[in-house]
Amino acid sequence: MGKILITQVLLFAFGVSPALAVIGGGDVHLPSRGGDVLFSHEAHVAGGGLKCQQCHPIPYTNPKQHKKVTMKAMAAGKSCGACHDGKTAFSVQDDCAKCHKQ
Ligand code: HEC
Ligand code: HEC
Ligand code: HEC
Repeated sequence: MGKILITQVLLFAFGVSPALAVIGGGDVHLPSRGGDVLFSHEAHVAGGGLKCQQCHPIPYTNPKQHKKVTMKAMAAGKSCGACHDGKTAFSVQDDCAKCHKQ
């Protein structure tokens, strides 16, 4: 646990370095059977006004440690579904194409 935490701190300290034009983890590609998803840090941090801590280290670490989440689990509030519930942000149960761009 300690090791993972330190890795995350280093990862994020690097990620927020002002010398980099990329915000957070940049664009993250999430392959999926429903059509591939491109997660944009820019849209969430600059556009949505969210803090890194709202998504890191829970529920997200990094793509290497990524655990697949089903749409059913998302509809019950896991992963993207924690916010994409139709209140905080558009729901995971509609507008599939907003996330699944292929
Ligand atoms: C709305 C949620 C959200 C916010 C806010 C957020 N992230 Fe992320 N971040 C993600 C997701 C989703 C992934 C991909 C995780 C996965 O594949 O399991 C990710 C991955 C990353 C990665 C790894 C990228 C890679 O390709 O290895 C870094 C670094 C990162 N984020 C840094 C940050 C920093 C720094 C901030 C704040 C400026 C931030 N994130 C804010 C959701 C978020
Ligand atoms: C807020 C973004 C978002 C929306 C909206 C969304 N999805 Fe997804 N979906 C994802 C992400 C991200 C994954 C990959 C999850 C992972 O790998 O952890 C995924 C995975 C999937 C999968 C493979 C996993 C499974 O549950 O079988 C299917 C199929 C799928 N989505 C279909 C849909 C359909 C159909 C809709 C519309 C009713 C939809 N998705 C709406 C983000 C979204
Ligand atoms: C901590 C809350 C949170 C989490 C977790 C989250 N989002 Fe979002 N997302 C937002 C907010 C807030 C917005 C901006 C409001 C809106 O568009 O409804 C947004 C907007 C978006 C948009 C529209 C961006 C644009 O270009 O305008 C997409 C696509 C999206 N999210 C996909 C995802 C996917 C895929 C995941 C999971 C990997 C995810 N989000 C996880 C809060 C979140």
